Amino acid sequence: MSRPGRLAGRSQEHEGRVVDAALRSLSGGDGTLLVIGDPTGRMAPALAERGWKPRTWSRWCRGDQPGTPWPAEGVVDAATVRLPKARAAYLMALHAAASRVRPGGHIYVYGANDEGIRSALDPLRALFPGAHTADIRGHGRVQLAERPAELPGLVDTVDGWRRDVDLILPSGTYRWSVWPGLFAKGGLDAATATLLQVMPPPAAGDRVLDFGCGAGVISVELHAAAPDAVYTALDADALAVEATRRNAPHATVIASDGLAGVAGQRFSRIVSNPPFHQGKAEDFQVMTDLARQAPAHLLPGGALWVVVPRQVPIEGILGPVFRHVTAHHVDGRFQVVEAR
Ligand SMILES: C[S@@+](CC[C@H](N)C(=O)[O-])C[C@H]1O[C@@H](n2cnc3c(N)ncnc32)[C@H](O)[C@@H]1O
Repeated sequence: MSRPGRLAGRSQEHEGRVVDAALRSLSGGDGTLLVIGDPTGRMAPALAERGWKPRTWSRWCRGDQPGTPWPAEGVVDAATVRLPKARAAYLMALHAAASRVRPGGHIYVYGANDEGIRSALDPLRALFPGAHTADIRGHGRVQLAERPAELPGLVDTVDGWRRDVDLILPSGTYRWSVWPGLFAKGGLDAATATLLQVMPPPAAGDRVLDFGCGAGVISVELHAAAPDAVYTALDADALAVEATRRNAPHATVIASDGLAGVAGQRFSRIVSNPPFHQGKAEDFQVMTDLARQAPAHLLPGGALWVVVPRQVPIEGILGPVFRHVTAHHVDGRFQVVEAR
């Protein structure tokens, strides 16, 4: 979710340990290898040193590296899969790997015990009979599969993973596209619902930025209340961007890690339910960067509105940057805060 070197201290350390353990388990090679998910950016160069010719696929934009919904065309000899947090995203990543690895090639899945790497074996076996645990090391392990020539259940396109559902939102029922791994499964999260209840709608002509738009819930709900505002939505996840393009056709949708994708643009309002986790680890980096960079993207009189978990010290993050920070709502779970 963050570009290399941009994970906050603890998640950076955790990721480093997971990558190191996996690297100690992986043999050298001389073929092409697809690296799937590599938040620190260390896996690909380390594998190159061992003789592999790595290519990478990430659905996430990292810094100026774009994310893509599906791995680029081309057959590879092997793939590594960094275990994602969401089970559905894991299944999709396995199919993405299988869509590119040649028959007989290996797929290595790695992750930490407290992320569920042990139970990652069952879904791997369901797709690749004979998959097994190749190595147990430190607090993690590597699960290994060989791609058979025939894979009857393979779903090998990104559109094969899209689900079109009817989503009931406060403003109405929408035909809604979602992909595995989207926040709140692409639906209405309780924190987002609280933000939408508490925050007044934008005025006609306001320029609104939906930061970290996920499947587009905020853009759609605000547009229903204020159709004459102008909407831009951004997310670092290429599949969130695809979903919002379909779900919120009134919005200009941009793939971007942080605010880089709207360089030079200013908004009347930036609205967000920002991320606070990188994998399992708490990580305030995206919110901290947003707070620091938002003023340069706000029009005079503009405001940043966020909903955050109750325990997040949001005033400490926003206070040093903004003159006026107002908590409009605090309950046992969430705070809705406006910063001007
Ligand atoms: C808590 S979810 C909110 C999703 C949606 N706005 C909602 O309310 O349902 C946070 C979103 O931020 C996105 N995100 C995470 N890191 C990001 C970054 N560095 N830049 C932009 N978006 C990011 C995630 O992909 C995710 O969709």
